Amino acid sequence: MNFASDNTAPASPEILAALSAVNVGGLASYGADPITARVQARLAEIFGRPLVAYPVATGTAANVLALATLVRPFGGVVCHEEAHIATDECGAPEFYTGGAKLVTLPATDGKITPDQIDAVMARAHDHGVHHVMPEAVSITQASEWGTVYSPTEVAAIGAACRRHGLKLHMDGARFANALVSIGCSAADLTWRAGVDVLSFGATKNGALAAEAVVFFDPALADGFERRRKRGGQLWSKMRFLSAQLEAYLAGDLWLHNAAHANRMATRLAAGLAALPKLEIVQPVQANEVFASMPPTLSAALQADGAQFYDWIPVQGTAAPVARLVTAFSTTEAEVEAFLALTRTLSAGRVSSQKDHAV
Ligand SMILES: Cc1ncc(COP(=O)(O)O)c(C=O)c1O
Repeated sequence: MNFASDNTAPASPEILAALSAVNVGGLASYGADPITARVQARLAEIFGRPLVAYPVATGTAANVLALATLVRPFGGVVCHEEAHIATDECGAPEFYTGGAKLVTLPATDGKITPDQIDAVMARAHDHGVHHVMPEAVSITQASEWGTVYSPTEVAAIGAACRRHGLKLHMDGARFANALVSIGCSAADLTWRAGVDVLSFGATKNGALAAEAVVFFDPALADGFERRRKRGGQLWSKMRFLSAQLEAYLAGDLWLHNAAHANRMATRLAAGLAALPKLEIVQPVQANEVFASMPPTLSAALQADGAQFYDWIPVQGTAAPVARLVTAFSTTEAEVEAFLALTRTLSAGRVSSQKDHAV
């Protein structure tokens, strides 16, 4: 019953097989191999336009190299206060941009709004030279609260960015989960809605370690390659990064994996919502479930072998919140075992690890 994170998931067998398949003979290094070129072509096909795409090994690298390309050291990046770049990247955005400030905004559902961006920009102008002037906005899709920006919401943020001369970055560590949740085209959720650069995630959804930084306007990528090299993210044996991405995109594996993860989250949420002591505190729109529950129940579940994190409480909820994340590898049996255990424990019966182990 592992719902700790989609980072705890294994890699898709198709992706591991692709690594073996490319493990033959000599191939050009540092991204000059044909696999890397094919990945870029496939992404251009998926997004329906010319683009440039650069493989990197971690989501943090994708985010911070993208932001460093968009923002000057004295600029700022507007984002949600719980954005991964603000809370979980150990200052890497500030480090890689050479000091740009993250201007964080609250939003109980994890999604910032155009009005907030307008207000931030008005304030920055009011304070003149003393205040950091944002140069980009970064939104997370799906958000840190498991919610999803609709194409209309992204487009409204894109319009606000254009009004203020800001670039729009999307942290798509869970982009596939968001996309299949909405069912629109990848184009409608990104560049057509004003996204300039996407951190296209794959690791959480089946890759071993691979993400791509996608620039929809190749002119914006100026300097990116040297930043990636200087940041230690230019793999010499790039074929092994690109082979993961190629297999991830082949036969729509990325969409199948994400759809499965989302289905498991929906099922988990529906089962939990039916129980008296639990409340689902965020709309379940991708592969994360946030459930408030009595601390004793949370502790008992974890003592009985369920793995998940106690999360920060959502504004307006008294009880602590459990974050439950599903992945492509989550099984129905895991979900059902967790629901059965929760039912038993919330009914007040004593359970043991032996009875409920999966
Ligand atoms: C929203 C979000 N962005 C980016 C990342 C990428 O992080 P990492 O650098 O650990 O691959 C994560 C991983 O947890 C994430 O949740």
